[in-house]
Amino acid sequence: MSQFRIRGGRSLQGAIAVSGAKNAALKMIAASILTTKPITLKNTPRIIDVEVMLQLVAEFGITHQWLDEHTLTLDSSLCQPTNPTDSLARKLRASFVLVGPALGRFGKISVPFPGGDKIGLRPIDTHLHAFRQLGVDISQAGGRYEMHWPKRMDADVYLLEPSVTATENILLATVLGQAKTTIYGAATEPEIGNLIDLLLTLGAHVNGKDTATLEIIGQRTLTGGEVEIIPDRIEIGTMLMAGLITRGEITITNAIVGQSNYLVARFQTMGINIEIEGRGRRQAITATRSASGLKPVTVDTRPYPGFYTDLQSPMAALATQATGRSVIFETMYEGRFAYVPELQKMGAQISVDGSHKIIIDGPTPLTGAQVLTSDIRAGAALVLAGLAATGETVIDNIELIDRGYERLDKKLQSLGAYIERI
Ligand code: EPU
Repeated sequence: MSQFRIRGGRSLQGAIAVSGAKNAALKMIAASILTTKPITLKNTPRIIDVEVMLQLVAEFGITHQWLDEHTLTLDSSLCQPTNPTDSLARKLRASFVLVGPALGRFGKISVPFPGGDKIGLRPIDTHLHAFRQLGVDISQAGGRYEMHWPKRMDADVYLLEPSVTATENILLATVLGQAKTTIYGAATEPEIGNLIDLLLTLGAHVNGKDTATLEIIGQRTLTGGEVEIIPDRIEIGTMLMAGLITRGEITITNAIVGQSNYLVARFQTMGINIEIEGRGRRQAITATRSASGLKPVTVDTRPYPGFYTDLQSPMAALATQATGRSVIFETMYEGRFAYVPELQKMGAQISVDGSHKIIIDGPTPLTGAQVLTSDIRAGAALVLAGLAATGETVIDNIELIDRGYERLDKKLQSLGAYIERI
């Protein structure tokens, strides 16, 4: 198991491009099941979760090639129905998004309950309820869900929650097959829009991109195509916070700022100056603390366009440096505060009020400590705290960070941080 050793106290400065969005890339790889023609994904992040997803689609006979560091081509010409193995599928939540394309193309699949970050119960009831509305038969045997879709028909699907992966699953199930499906209460995260961009390129008919109602007209076949994965808005937020927590100034050079509007608005309430330059997919965004210092923040995590749960823990780390009391409500997951005792070891004044609320009093000087990350984003919070702390911080279990952040250590080094992998 690897560790990060961080010597904090350096102010991070400079410009950096973030990687492509993990939560778009994983679903696009799953989408390759839907066609026999090649798909090319530009700006694919080189992270562990992408490697696992490639192994999962390899079980279907899909091969891949890296054309350059971040350009991935998937060849589905030999794709066959299969049932993902337990050990692989339990490594990540996104494995459950193989269900949609497998049902859409082959009408059947058997999968285990998905794995992924231990951040709460993470039920799949919304998925199952939605698949049943499509007419999918679902039974459970030997710890797996046996799913069979005997007959396509026009359907209205009402999602119990605006779940990202459930929206993607229904979308991927219905772009093939000659039926019309309407999804009501769909999630609107930009990564879903990016997946729709790919599907449209492949010849799918989907109306309502970026809205909560998606209309899908199933097609007989899909072709191949190429799409560029959007910059990772979670990494954008994390890197900007790395600059802010160290009293530095970081510019992200490849942002789509419109996808981070709510974060920008939150930053502004904290007295953070935001500068934006350029248009389209290559905007530069810079965040700096104002002379009056960092103000406390109250946030509750919400589905897009609200404050995203994936930045909840980095925001808590930053809030330890704000003057006054910050309050964070985690409305989605009941297990996403496992990083709090680790931040407390470093001197943070945080009290936990139930499983959904924390209160942070600041500013508190942080000191280096030996800490353990429990999930991808908890790891990001500990890295930020380590960068701001005096002395040395050692973070255990950083494979979890590598699941979602591409070479975070190298990127931070390029901005002046002392961080090494040991
Ligand atoms: N939910 C249900 N039933 C379901 C599905 C979800 O009750 O069947 C609830 C969850 O318990 C949670 C909320 O709905 O309260 C959101 O769940 P969703 O299904 O949207 O989340 P997810 O698919 O498990 C994706 C991302 C997460 C991200 C969330 C929320 C992927 C692979 N994962 O998860 O990303 O936190 O949406 O935006 O797309 C991460 O990248 O670190 C990460 C955890």
